[in-house]
Amino acid sequence: MSALDTIRARAGDEPVTVAMVLGSGLGPLADAVDGVRIPYSDLPGFPSAGVSGHAAELVVGRLGAARVAVMSGREHYYEHGRADAMRAPLETLAALGAQMLILTNACGALQSRTPPGSLMLISDHINYAGISPLTGEPTDRRFVNLTEAYDPGLRAALSEAAQAEDIPLESGVYAWYLGPNFETPAEIRALRVLGADAVGMSTVPEIILGRFLGLRCAAISVVTNMAAGLSDEQISHTHTKDMAPIGAAKLQTVLMRWLGGL
Ligand code: HPA
Repeated sequence: MSALDTIRARAGDEPVTVAMVLGSGLGPLADAVDGVRIPYSDLPGFPSAGVSGHAAELVVGRLGAARVAVMSGREHYYEHGRADAMRAPLETLAALGAQMLILTNACGALQSRTPPGSLMLISDHINYAGISPLTGEPTDRRFVNLTEAYDPGLRAALSEAAQAEDIPLESGVYAWYLGPNFETPAEIRALRVLGADAVGMSTVPEIILGRFLGLRCAAISVVTNMAAGLSDEQISHTHTKDMAPIGAAKLQTVLMRWLGGL
């Protein structure tokens, strides 16, 4: 049975409006969904192995007033070297009816205005990895326009939701670094010159795929650390997982407020 058929069989036919992908340590948001949980292992094409800090399940149900499909855990390029690893899952979420895609991630900050524990609304990205999930796509649809990849209307609505909740939400440019190793201080200095405000190992390929699928996209980063060379703290995945819940609580508040206004 296809992933789509399995999801419909277990969670029902009612279309979802919002699809979400939760990053490292941001899984608690999925617990707030009143719905059906389906392990990725039951869904062909969904990520197979996990990264610690990531659950591996799809949750379909109600979050606030909206019907949502939440991916708790994603596949990153660094796991198997596939930039299009998230294509099948995102195609499935679009086929479920999703019109909006909200991506979340943990990131390192290049700016002191977004200290660890804060949120950053991604306004644009730099594909520092230089690869695309659409390589090999044979149709002309591959020439995706990314001019307003981060939907201005969604960004405005998310900013308003944050403001209403008194949660600071700076905007900034996210650079995709392949990982899994963290960056060197020299790379961070280079990224700063290029115009990046934050750096992380995900999201950019999903945004490209989301626009390819015609979804309105937005992304919020949870800052877990200052990027390499910018502070004395030790950068590690353990630190990311420890810090993520602080931002995750704010993220949940902002997203619930936004969903309530849909
Ligand atoms: N770099 C890349 N990815 C990250 C970081 C970082 O500093 N922090 C959390 N994810």
